[in-house]
Amino acid sequence: MAAAGISTGMRVLDVGCGAGDVAMLAGRLVGPTGSVLAIDRSDDALAVAGRRAAAKGFSHIEFAKRDIADLAGGEKFDAVTGRFLLLHFKDPTPILRGVASLVKPGGTVVFAEMDIGSTSATPPFPLLEKCVGWIVSLYARSGLEPDMGSKLYGAFRAAGLAASLKATCRIETGLDGGGLAYLVGTLQTMKPALIALGVATPEELDIPSLTQRLAADMTAGGHCVIYPRLIGAWART
Ligand SMILES: C[S@@+](CC[C@H](N)C(=O)[O-])C[C@H]1O[C@@H](n2cnc3c(N)ncnc32)[C@H](O)[C@@H]1O
Repeated sequence: MAAAGISTGMRVLDVGCGAGDVAMLAGRLVGPTGSVLAIDRSDDALAVAGRRAAAKGFSHIEFAKRDIADLAGGEKFDAVTGRFLLLHFKDPTPILRGVASLVKPGGTVVFAEMDIGSTSATPPFPLLEKCVGWIVSLYARSGLEPDMGSKLYGAFRAAGLAASLKATCRIETGLDGGGLAYLVGTLQTMKPALIALGVATPEELDIPSLTQRLAADMTAGGHCVIYPRLIGAWART
């Protein structure tokens, strides 16, 4: 977001804010002389985000219930941010065109997305591959894009935006990094949908035993795990 030019005093719109992490990053970058409007369609997410931002003293972030499809017209912003949102849309290009129209000339549109399928391990780690495969299958069967990260460039291009790109990923050995705990937490959240859609069985998704087996395999196998690429794309309007 800093590379994309988000800086002191700006007015930022964060779309699909979820629990508010990106809005708070933007809030830090713009400082108290700037401000952030963070929108989401979920009351639950907004309640969590509002509580977290208030606890951290962000009085210059406003959270509001809006669908991204209903944002046309009205106020113009210096920048629009969004993370892990475009994967929800079959065609993200109209969304990008829509949010770009809310940015002042010379302002910035910046999005970040993952390539979940890019997760890998050396030497091979079959149980990890199986877990990631469940997530990718669930995304595919729910109409979500598991590899939106590397599709950002094309989506920006189709929306008439010349994207600059940056990628990063978490790389871990051993158990201290927290990656496996994050993976198991994700599966726990997805468990009802994974079972309902027949992607995995309740036995396979027994979280305590899955946690224990992943940790045991990680330790015994001496794996180097490369978690999904996170790709950021930004463009000036
Ligand atoms: C995976 S979360 C990402 C949250 C946050 N951006 C982050 O990176 O931590 C996606 C969020 O987008 C919201 N969302 C999905 N479709 C939306 C839409 N059409 N309009 C507004 N929010 C939407 C969801 O409610 C959810 O909170």
